[in-house]
Amino acid sequence: MSVQYSVSVRGAWRRVLAVAGSLAIVGAASAQQVSTQPRAGALVTPDPSGLLQTSTPTGSIDKGNPFFQSLGSNGRTCNSCHRQAEGWTVTAAGIKRRFDATRGLDPIFALVDGADSPLADVSTFAAREKAYSMLITRGVIRVGLPMPANAEFTLTAVDDPYGYASAAQLSLFRRPLPATNLIWDTAVMWDGRETFAPFEPPMDAGVDAEDLRSSLQSQALDAVLGHEQAASPPSDDVLQQIVDFESNLFTAQLFDKSAGALNEFGGMGGAHILAQQKFWIGINDSLGNDPTTDPFDPDVMRLFDAWDNPDSAMNRDARVQARAAIARGQQLFDSLPIAISGVAGLNDVTGQPVIQGTCGTCHDSPNIGNHSVGAPLNIGIADGSRRTPDLPLYTLTNNSTGESIQTTDPGVAMLTGKWADIGKFKGPNLRGLAARAPYFHNGFAPTLLDVVNFYDTRFDIGMTAQQKSDLVAFLSAL
Ligand code: HEC
Ligand code: HEC
Repeated sequence: MSVQYSVSVRGAWRRVLAVAGSLAIVGAASAQQVSTQPRAGALVTPDPSGLLQTSTPTGSIDKGNPFFQSLGSNGRTCNSCHRQAEGWTVTAAGIKRRFDATRGLDPIFALVDGADSPLADVSTFAAREKAYSMLITRGVIRVGLPMPANAEFTLTAVDDPYGYASAAQLSLFRRPLPATNLIWDTAVMWDGRETFAPFEPPMDAGVDAEDLRSSLQSQALDAVLGHEQAASPPSDDVLQQIVDFESNLFTAQLFDKSAGALNEFGGMGGAHILAQQKFWIGINDSLGNDPTTDPFDPDVMRLFDAWDNPDSAMNRDARVQARAAIARGQQLFDSLPIAISGVAGLNDVTGQPVIQGTCGTCHDSPNIGNHSVGAPLNIGIADGSRRTPDLPLYTLTNNSTGESIQTTDPGVAMLTGKWADIGKFKGPNLRGLAARAPYFHNGFAPTLLDVVNFYDTRFDIGMTAQQKSDLVAFLSAL
């Protein structure tokens, strides 16, 4: 495999230092054996499978930060779409509750990008229920992007159920990404469009710590001007306070309803342990581009090694059984063979029509699960074949070959104009998943079982029901 991501080792080491800096903040929670259920409080919030934990340097969430202040004209704050209890994004269920509680008048329900079309009628409750249907049912925001200049393709047909999208502005329905665990981002936004060093060779490697800060600052500025509809930009000082706040958040599942505390009996769940995770750009890269030149270790996830206890089969304690299921799920994530084919960004780039891999081939950052290089991939979520009637469908025609494809979101191609980049998105961070359904860039999968079923079908894996439920138990414990 010969892909060259010219990885900046200097940048990589700066990032290691940034992570080491966060060590000071984590306290000694790691090896403790807590026997009672932790109580929900400032840093621990309930979610559908147990409790989610966020760790901060001060031990509290600074609600005075401009992240929680309205900086524009429509009453929204960053917190309108990035909520602690919803994994620092928003869930479809949480939005539905907010819609009902405020009769659709909470500031998140704004025409600009909360509605299916910015021209929708929102004059009555019933009208609003219809106008904000995508936000309520899928938890998605309408990202409006123009067709790129000088693209290798032309938009030849638009089928938008909401009658708004055109070449001037494609409506791309996308999930807010979690505003936490950001220090490990190798790309900012689903399509990397806020990455300081965008997805262009030779910067495919991702961003170093300094670039990441500039990327997040630019992202925050655009969020204030766009989502919050500010007439003028906030000061650099305000933006830096926001970046300081969000890039010091660490979030992970802490307690599982079936398995109990995820940091007991040698388990390494929870946000405190996560905050100590070592990382550098290209760490454990599955294509052999780790700057340390260490080979890819398929044991990407090592959080629940201690629970992989064969004796547990004899043990009738329900919690022991549930912990064993999580450990089996981790084992599947690290080793269940997947014949990866037809993935643009991987098979075409390596010239290998089939790569014998695992979940960890693409989610290769140890114990974090994002892609440790910025390289975006097309696993087919936006393919026309997976279009549901509520999504706009775009037909793109290649200017030189005349070939046409249909997609619900061209992804990275909206930035680069490249045919080969259609449908590519970043491999997101996998921690704190249980709190933030639905999944994938457009909320395609309502539950983690739907995620697993997608992979089972997409790569023809042939998982058993037991394997699926073990994998779901593991993903829910992240
Ligand atoms: C109306 C909802 C909304 C508001 C308000 C909002 N965001 Fe977001 N945020 C999103 C969406 C949607 C995305 C993903 C868009 C994409 O990738 O195309 C996102 C992505 C992000 C990301 C990228 C994370 C990553 O890992 O790539 C960060 C960071 C972020 N938002 C921070 C903020 C900050 C800071 C504010 C306030 C200044 C803010 N957001 C306000 C909806 C919102
Ligand atoms: C070929 C590369 C590849 C493989 C193999 C792969 N993933 Fe992914 N994964 C991705 C990409 C890329 C995305 C984002 C796709 C999108 O939203 O369009 C993703 C998204 C996800 C998400 C959604 C996260 C979120 O925040 O919405 C989960 C969960 C996930 N993968 C779990 C898994 C599991 C479990 C496996 C193994 C069964 C697996 N992945 C195998 C590349 C891969």
